[in-house]
Amino acid sequence: MTIHEEYRATHAKSAALYERARRSIPGGITHDIRHLTPHPIYVERAAGARKWDVDGNEYVDYWMGHGALFLGHCHPAIVKAVQGQIARGTHLGACHELEVHWAELVTKLIPCAEHVRFTMSGTEATHLAMRVARAYTGRSKIVKFTGHFHGWHDGAVAGVNPPYEVPMSAGVPGAMLDQMVICPPNDIKAVQVALERGDVAAVILEPAGGQAGTTPTIPGYLQELRALTERHGVVLIFDEVITGFRYSPGGAQAYFSVTPDLTTLAKIVAGGLPGGALCGKRPLMSLLAFRGDPDWDRSQRVAHAGTFNANPLCASAAIATLELVSDAAHQTRANKQGEELRRGLSEAMKRTGVPGVCYGESSIYHVSFEGKPGLAGHDRPRRASLYHLLRCALMNNGVDSSMNHGWISAIHNDEDLERTLQGYERAFQAMVAEGAFQGA
Ligand SMILES: Cc1ncc(COP(=O)(O)O)c(C=O)c1O
Repeated sequence: MTIHEEYRATHAKSAALYERARRSIPGGITHDIRHLTPHPIYVERAAGARKWDVDGNEYVDYWMGHGALFLGHCHPAIVKAVQGQIARGTHLGACHELEVHWAELVTKLIPCAEHVRFTMSGTEATHLAMRVARAYTGRSKIVKFTGHFHGWHDGAVAGVNPPYEVPMSAGVPGAMLDQMVICPPNDIKAVQVALERGDVAAVILEPAGGQAGTTPTIPGYLQELRALTERHGVVLIFDEVITGFRYSPGGAQAYFSVTPDLTTLAKIVAGGLPGGALCGKRPLMSLLAFRGDPDWDRSQRVAHAGTFNANPLCASAAIATLELVSDAAHQTRANKQGEELRRGLSEAMKRTGVPGVCYGESSIYHVSFEGKPGLAGHDRPRRASLYHLLRCALMNNGVDSSMNHGWISAIHNDEDLERTLQGYERAFQAMVAEGAFQGA
């Protein structure tokens, strides 16, 4: 049986749901990243590091809520917190103590965070960060790097995936794209030239490297970027939607010892429920506060609304999570599992004759068929069918991971890792047997 034949045979109910979905949802999916040939799986429930689909297949899960579930699915402390809060109200239409507690935890943990404003997603957080930086500097351009992802709003769609001159999405006005100055990653000279234009408000980047570290940041680069932005009075924004609380309790900025001016957070910051945050230094963040001067409040203040910002349900999950991840024990454990898994996967690739590498940092792994780190994101569009095949082969063998990377949580145990390595090895063998890499 081929990989796809086996996949179809063991995922009949998912296939039927996909057909049904396509009648009411464009393309049948609600996030572009769930696009999968021949069809996605439909998951019924999850617990710990495992999840089960509608056909009864069990998976070791490396999606982990797109990286949001650092403590795994249904962690008892989070379930308890959310259950307690849901009975007390999901939206109080008012300020509440939980948002204050949540903000205090963020300011305690994230080095640059003197003040915090909550949003409902990472996309909203980067959108707000750019607005604050523009208001603070009075300049309009934002420097971003090729291969770095900052959500799907109009101001972030340039230079995400190759070919980089084509924005990530249609429907974005050219005038909007003109506000972005796109630089190659890890090239401090290019940023220097961009900042010398004098019209740049901010530099935004994923500090550990674009797309969750797919293209890793080279040592020393963040320090150089910090010095350069300071020299030019340009706001440095770390997008820590992925790395926040994962690389260390203080995120990548604590891990790499470089403090930005602003930081965007989402995923882990909201404990597996929807949420995000912008945090940073007081002079910038204070632009969001009313000052009691009607003219300033109306025309110079940065406006920010959002019906569900810091809603108490998300705040309760967030507090339970941040309290647990604040002492580094969970990160140390997850990082160690990350190392084991990367080592095991590299060996499995060699043993099975699969071209490419497994690499990564902290509790993230990347599988690239391209032969060297940094190219996983580059080769993905060109070789999408190969990565789709890997995903199907993996699911045939009890592992669910994204196309080319996986999120390790603090609760993936040795048995999970063992199963994962066996699953990958069998998936690689099946791909080789099918001749998937011939001519690759
Ligand atoms: C680095 C980074 N920034 C921003 C976002 C957007 O976050 P959200 O999906 O919560 O809008 C993501 C999402 O994966 C991300 O990885």
